[in-house]
Amino acid sequence: MEDRERRLTQALAADPALRDSFDYILLDCPPSLGLLTLNALVAAHSVLVPLQTEFFALEGVSQITQTIERVKRALNPGLALEGILLTMYDRRNNLSELVAQDVRGFFKDKVFETVIPRNIRISEAPSHGLPVSLYDARSPGAQAYAALGAEMLRREKRA
Ligand SMILES: Nc1ncnc2c1ncn2[C@@H]1O[C@H](COP(=O)(O)OP(=O)(O)OP(=O)(O)O)[C@@H](O)[C@H]1O
Ligand SMILES: [Mg+2]
Repeated sequence: MEDRERRLTQALAADPALRDSFDYILLDCPPSLGLLTLNALVAAHSVLVPLQTEFFALEGVSQITQTIERVKRALNPGLALEGILLTMYDRRNNLSELVAQDVRGFFKDKVFETVIPRNIRISEAPSHGLPVSLYDARSPGAQAYAALGAEMLRREKRA
């Protein structure tokens, strides 16, 4: 199909009313770089990379930054790295802290200050058909996601 990596960009452009009804549109991608992910990277202004604080984390993240660079050059010059979000963070596990330090050392202020903890409420929420913010707004997981939203808004004001 012609322009196969621009189908989503075209669909969004074709419906200004849709686009104007939202302040933000989040495109949740599969972990692999298939045609769907590519469509999202071409349509997006920026990429938010959730990163599990585990041993192979840095390996995956260097791949995604390379991918972003390639998409920028070839298809979407405006694409930016919004930030890297450390998630599934486990305070009881030294490895989490080490990986977090590593990632911050490498990506500096591209890493959100907010960290999403490993939290059972987050994994329970989908089975109730709810986002964690409605399932248990007071849980550490929900509060962390709210803090992330606030941090993103603060960063945007600064930029
Ligand atoms: N911070 C967390 N604490 C505990 N469990 C979590 C947390 N974040 C996600 N989970 C659980 O881990 C599983 C995978 O999460 P999620 O679907 O967000 O990952 P994903 O990388 O988007 O997966 P996929 O590639 O399938 O889309 C889910 O069961 C989810 O409930
Ligand atoms: Mg997913």
